[in-house]
Amino acid sequence: MNRNAEIANSYRMRIDEAIGYIKSRTDMEPVLALVLGSGLGEYAAELKVEEEISYRDIPGFPVSTAPGHDGRFIFGYLDQIPVVCMKGRVHLYEGYEPWDVVMPVRVMKGLGIKALFLTNASGGINFGYMAGDLMLITDHISSFVPNPLIGPNFEAYGTRFPDMTHVYDEELSDQIREAAHEEKVPLQEGIYVQLTGPSFESPAEIRMLRSLGADAVGMSTVIEAIAAHHAGIRVVGVSCIANAAAGMTKELLSGDDVNLTANETAPLFSRLVTSSIKKITGKL
Ligand code: HPA
Repeated sequence: MNRNAEIANSYRMRIDEAIGYIKSRTDMEPVLALVLGSGLGEYAAELKVEEEISYRDIPGFPVSTAPGHDGRFIFGYLDQIPVVCMKGRVHLYEGYEPWDVVMPVRVMKGLGIKALFLTNASGGINFGYMAGDLMLITDHISSFVPNPLIGPNFEAYGTRFPDMTHVYDEELSDQIREAAHEEKVPLQEGIYVQLTGPSFESPAEIRMLRSLGADAVGMSTVIEAIAAHHAGIRVVGVSCIANAAAGMTKELLSGDDVNLTANETAPLFSRLVTSSIKKITGKL
């Protein structure tokens, strides 16, 4: 077997083993996965929980080490809707390879999810944003992080050269817009750029990112969105603007403050997410 085929094979086996382990713990078949970003993990309490599975217990699974990231799957129901929640994710800055960062997405594909709802905390680049705003992600810039599809292509998931014109599903994003309107939750819309972190950006980098058209910056989400879109999962994303990006105010940035602001947004975030999930799953 050539080296690429070997790598692909062992990765596939890890994914299958993780799926097998999860299926041995729960027979729930989630239709939607919700990834909870920094400071947003408490949303999981909204579910009627069926099973919780720590990433540590899943063979070959990447384990989250970031503060504010709990590191477990929560399988539960929102009303009658079977949902899997990722309370905590893994990031490139923890030292994981891009294919490890997106492994959970592929595992959840194997569990049967049709839609992936990505959330995160970010720095606001757009002058019109304030800390605590929520932003619907309408597009992304991935050019500063390694592409998660580099390496042998997994034909079972998708094509070698996937189109990225409509990563964030228009019909499902409309459901979030409607939910925001009904719940009277103000919702910005914009373009999210992922950098690797873990250092925050410099003011000069923020000016560069703004000139490139980015509205918010963070250290996650985009590579997960690419892998999900590749695999035919319908993707939506909401970012919690936790702070004005570097150099835009006199404040220095800290991970603790990011988690605090994201926590403060929790009530608005919860209302938006619950209403959105009900509408989205009606369209799957
Ligand atoms: N930059 C990058 N990631 C972030 C920020 C930021 O300002 N705020 C929250 N996550």
